[in-house]
Amino acid sequence: MMTFEEATKRVTTLNELLHKYNQAYYMQDTSLVSDQEFDELLHELIKLEQTYPALKRKDSPTQRVGGTINKAFKTVEHSTRMLSLGNTYSEQDLLDFDTRIAKGLENQPYEYFCELKFDGVAISLHYENDTLVRAVTRGDGTKGDDITDNAKTIKSIPLRVNTGLPNFEVRGEVFMPKQVFEQLNRQRAEAGEELYANARNTASGSLKMMDSAQVAKRKLDCYLYMLLAPGMQTHEQAIHSLENWGFKVSPTYQKCASIQQVLQYIHQWQEKRHQLPVETDGIVIKVNSIEQQEILGFTAKTPKWAIAYKYKSESACTRLVDVTFQVGRTGAITPVAELAPVQLAGTTVKRASLHNANEIERLDLHQNDYVLVEKGGEIIPKVTGVDLAQRQPGALPVQYITHCPACHTALIRHPNEAVHYCPNTQSCPPQIKGRIGHFIHRNALNIDSLGDKTIALLYAKGWLTWPSDLYRLTAEQLLTLEGFKELSVANLLNGIEASKQTPFENVLFGLGIRYVGKTVAEKLAAHFNTIDALMEASVEQLMQVPEIGERIAESVVHYFSQPEYRNEINRLKAAGLNFTSTANFQESNKLDGQTFVVSGVFKNYSRDELKATIKAHGGKVVSSISKKLDYLIAGDKMGPAKKEKAEKLQVRIISEEDFQSLLH
Ligand code: IVH
Repeated sequence: MMTFEEATKRVTTLNELLHKYNQAYYMQDTSLVSDQEFDELLHELIKLEQTYPALKRKDSPTQRVGGTINKAFKTVEHSTRMLSLGNTYSEQDLLDFDTRIAKGLENQPYEYFCELKFDGVAISLHYENDTLVRAVTRGDGTKGDDITDNAKTIKSIPLRVNTGLPNFEVRGEVFMPKQVFEQLNRQRAEAGEELYANARNTASGSLKMMDSAQVAKRKLDCYLYMLLAPGMQTHEQAIHSLENWGFKVSPTYQKCASIQQVLQYIHQWQEKRHQLPVETDGIVIKVNSIEQQEILGFTAKTPKWAIAYKYKSESACTRLVDVTFQVGRTGAITPVAELAPVQLAGTTVKRASLHNANEIERLDLHQNDYVLVEKGGEIIPKVTGVDLAQRQPGALPVQYITHCPACHTALIRHPNEAVHYCPNTQSCPPQIKGRIGHFIHRNALNIDSLGDKTIALLYAKGWLTWPSDLYRLTAEQLLTLEGFKELSVANLLNGIEASKQTPFENVLFGLGIRYVGKTVAEKLAAHFNTIDALMEASVEQLMQVPEIGERIAESVVHYFSQPEYRNEINRLKAAGLNFTSTANFQESNKLDGQTFVVSGVFKNYSRDELKATIKAHGGKVVSSISKKLDYLIAGDKMGPAKKEKAEKLQVRIISEEDFQSLLH
């Protein structure tokens, strides 16, 4: 038997391990351990928590069984194996492939069908009586995960078609469009969250999420490229059938009469593919005739009638001109490699991310080094290596800064974190401007009449340091600025005025609390209803909200513990912004159909909170007392006239405590 101390240690280790494995599995789509090992660790933790209930954490992975760590997807066998493709980076290999085909077909004439190779997750869709009945991932090729509910959230996958076939299977690639991926990462950056590495892994992780409502938010898409149904003479015919039946097929395919035409197709898409909405990493070449495909057959793992040509991951070598350091709105410092301009994957690259100090150390970067930049699936090119042969003698290593480049405050680095921060949140200019930029963002207060340039100008004038300053700007003031005419000033002020109607959850997101992205803001607003309730919530109370973990909870509590932010919220309240949820988040229907008047001052609620609570439980708040009114909730200092009227009309007058007991 373990001592309590040993058990405490082990529980901590298990929590950390399982959390890490979950993250990797769901977010990066990598299994760091086998399912069996995972389950063993999980059971060990369950046992320990049963023996020592005090060690059970609210965010323990065991709490989520049935949630994220539940490997609930049914494993199903593929009726026809999902094969992979032989692949090559060399054109010579393609000529050899062509020779093998000619030989295999004993010099019968043949044609090829070329498609782009989409970089996503392979999926198989089964239709019975023209209805989508099952969607399965590739898995190990023989059996995969049944992810039907998640696949149904993908709008381009038809749930019903009209083919007249009793049953058939289609295969294709689920992907996250580049734009969606970029937007998702922008949101994560804004919330101070770690960025996803690339669109493919994010698509794959999204498909395996447990909550299909969350999958729906990921805006996945799907291209189909294979039909398993009788009666098809050629792959081309199959593709046209899919198109006619309403399946989404990428219009980038081409029939080719010879391998020379295939090579042309490859060259043609080499650069152009970067303009497509989906990441692609090569070309798939298929023999067009189904009969000939059957003649050619398969090797153990791949069809002999198809091959993938992969474009080399594009990289370029260029000189490092300088390393600059950017300060984000949260004070996070990002080192950036300033480069001699170089052509890469269809664009000119002048800058590349260096992530953090560890990365600079790993690269052992020196001044004026020639560096290798690569553009994989990532949006921002990254420095992947250094050409040591070109290093100049006596070149000095790149030094990480110790002080903020904008305000010269000494930087800090939290233990176990890779990122340096400027702690001068109150007066570091890029942080101030960044916070305002975030506040007016489309997903926040949506003041699109204001841009970064104007923010910088108003900040320089000393008129804008807090978001609440926006609501004090006047036309007289703005008209003194160069280039500001009546019309643009009116536009700007109208935009600011209109923002007062923004719903609470957007305002909350706009505050820019670290880790509170759009979705988290929605969850918090729906749960707490008012900023006052949220401001008073403890870490424990916050962690009771689904999906809110310790890291977010602590960040929220820390934010509201700072008087500067509390004062700012008071100023924003005074300006007339929404700090009460109007979304009819339904907690229960205990008060369905009942009407209430709220009057006086209460101990446990502000008046707004009390009203929000009534609504959340299905009740209705009205302003005047009538015979039809069900309840008058009387607080301290309620006006005597109201009381009198209620008594006269025989309306039930209840206390705050009576009200609370209605909810139980
Ligand atoms: S056909 C037997 N066509 O590449 C042939 N695959 O390495 C099956 N892929 O698992 C695949 N785009 O996930 C085919 N136009 C395309 C494709 C494509 C992407 C993926 C697919 C497959 C992998 C093979």
